[in-house]
Amino acid sequence: MSERYQAAYRRSLDDSEGFWLDAAAAIDWDRAPSRAWDEDKGWFADGLLNTCYNAVDRHVLAGRGSAVAVIHESPVTGTRQEISYDVLLEQVSRTAGMLAGLGVGKGDRVVIYMPMILQTLVAMLACARIGAIHSVVFGGFAAPELAKRIDDAKPKLLLTASCGIEGAKVVPYKPLVDHALELASHSVGHVVLFQRPQAAAAMMEGRDLDWSALLVQASTVPCVPVAATDPLYILYTSGTTGTPKGVVRQNGGHAVALAWSMAHIYGVRAGDVFWAASDVGWVVGHSYIVYGPLIAGCTTLLFEGKPVGTPDAGTFWRTIERNAVDIFFTAPTAIRAIRREDPEASFLAEIGTGRLRAMFLAGERADPDTVQWAEEKLHRPVIDHWWQTELGWPALAACFGLGDNRRRPGSAGFPVPGYRFAVLDENGVEVPLGATGNIVIRQPLPPGCYTSLWNNPATFARSFEAFPGYYETGDAGHVDADGFVNIMGRTDDIINVAGHRLSTGQMEEIVARHPAISECAVVGVDDQLKGMIPMAFAVPKAGVEQRAELCREIIASVRDELGPVAALKHVHVVDALPKTRSGKILRAALRKVANGEPIEMPPTIENPDALSRIRELFVLLDFADKA
Ligand code: COA
Ligand code: AMP
Repeated sequence: MSERYQAAYRRSLDDSEGFWLDAAAAIDWDRAPSRAWDEDKGWFADGLLNTCYNAVDRHVLAGRGSAVAVIHESPVTGTRQEISYDVLLEQVSRTAGMLAGLGVGKGDRVVIYMPMILQTLVAMLACARIGAIHSVVFGGFAAPELAKRIDDAKPKLLLTASCGIEGAKVVPYKPLVDHALELASHSVGHVVLFQRPQAAAAMMEGRDLDWSALLVQASTVPCVPVAATDPLYILYTSGTTGTPKGVVRQNGGHAVALAWSMAHIYGVRAGDVFWAASDVGWVVGHSYIVYGPLIAGCTTLLFEGKPVGTPDAGTFWRTIERNAVDIFFTAPTAIRAIRREDPEASFLAEIGTGRLRAMFLAGERADPDTVQWAEEKLHRPVIDHWWQTELGWPALAACFGLGDNRRRPGSAGFPVPGYRFAVLDENGVEVPLGATGNIVIRQPLPPGCYTSLWNNPATFARSFEAFPGYYETGDAGHVDADGFVNIMGRTDDIINVAGHRLSTGQMEEIVARHPAISECAVVGVDDQLKGMIPMAFAVPKAGVEQRAELCREIIASVRDELGPVAALKHVHVVDALPKTRSGKILRAALRKVANGEPIEMPPTIENPDALSRIRELFVLLDFADKA
């Protein structure tokens, strides 16, 4: 174990106040906080700062204006662009002027539904500059999901682009935005549209404004100091129902935690090149494409493409090599996709990895086989680490920046300084070492973690109720004899499909609304590429004959209502669902059957025939697959 890690971890618990006030010195404050934690007010409560100033202005003022701030690599459009901190400052302060000119001010919400282009990152920083609260919505969500977020966040403005590019497909965004605004009860003042050359979008007179035209007329505006506890953004994430949870991130704790993590978890300094191959619509994109690397004065890489097919399985290595990436972060799915196309890693052997120091994985469980393959081929540390949208930055990791090199495939590492973990049984009692239980984190959560859910105090409170004094992560796992923490899966309806967090409960709600369905269950089943995929079991109403048609309709409805990202492609129409005597659907049994795992008839089952028939169905499917 690294002594630096051990000392930092101990101090973060024994002298939390000193530890976090020291960490806060990495941030430029308009008024420095006098205290780190205040039981009533939260982290750094009397501090004043501006997150955009910390991510952009201060680097220019420190004489680093000509350093590269952002590289946009877009294999899907065949373009590559670099911008310096000087240029970023100009663009952000002018875009902030554009927003201010449209009446957006401190505390106003701005929804951003945009692809992986420079304007998206600039727009986020522009909101931060004037104290507006952005809410970025991932492009893979359909219009009804966007509408839900608009109704909850009640934005003054919606920013969008004419299209996203998904592999070889151009995905028009504007029709989707128009549809979402028809569905939403809340009306936005204006839609500001960035026209991309790949697709022109129609404008609605009066409501829609052209981004480029507005920008030419806009003046630049300075940073507005905000309280450390003022929200920087709302990011919606899947909960266990159809209503997404709006995770609120505060400015101060977020800036401090990200600055600390860049140096001590990822081990990077100003000038290093950091690439998180995620999407700005997810928390990884917020923390480690936009804010973390820029606060640290690094060059951040914004990648518009896929690990495979844009154009081939060498695209990640080419991007790493060409841009001299120091630290790379991706989801295990991406590595599985590359391995499937290039099992011998011949692209990697040919291209190399330039000055890459380590690769970090997160977003879903990293299976040991994938980790081992990647380490063997990369000849670099492959570090699995664990966190959630709610937390905003890693909670389990090997702190590479503190010299901690301990890794064990299958484990997400050790508690990061600031986080105190426990593994509890259903009664809140610590389980013995090695036993699986609920993964919980002692309160208070460290800086950067969520402090509320937008408009939803009841759901927020629920995460702290089951185990008093602890935050319930919703994950299950165990700690091994050497202290490695292993995260094995969720204890609720959430599944991770290709690193995307989705709710099977939400999909069930959509399937159940089909008029020909009497009841249904959606479960997450193992998938060799995506880690997990959703699978629906639907019982038709009496007299419904067109089963194949029904499957197609169910797939289409989930795609239309939730979005293509749900990736629901498997639906089984069955006569009955297995249930307990009290009427609870035996979802765990369905999952096991679908995974081909051996299963004993649950003692509480009311209708064993239903489960037997589904089991037979899967035996037949397996047989047909192999034939
Ligand atoms: N805008 C519009 N559509 C989107 C989208 C976006 N931003 N993101 C995904 N989609 C669509 C895809 O086009 C696909 O549509 P299709 O069903 O018409 O093909 C669907 O949503 C599912 O997308 P995805 O899960 O990405 O699957 P894929 O087959 O296109 O790609 C992988 C598979 C493994 C290559 C890809 O999922 C991947 O790169 N995963 C890593 C994810 C990641 O980094 N997650 C962040 C967590 S750190
Ligand atoms: P998200 O909020 O989208 O980041 O998803 C968080 C969830 O993804 C966690 O609660 C876990 O279930 C899962 N997850 C993220 N990282 C890991 C990891 N390294 N190992 C196992 N599960 C992970």
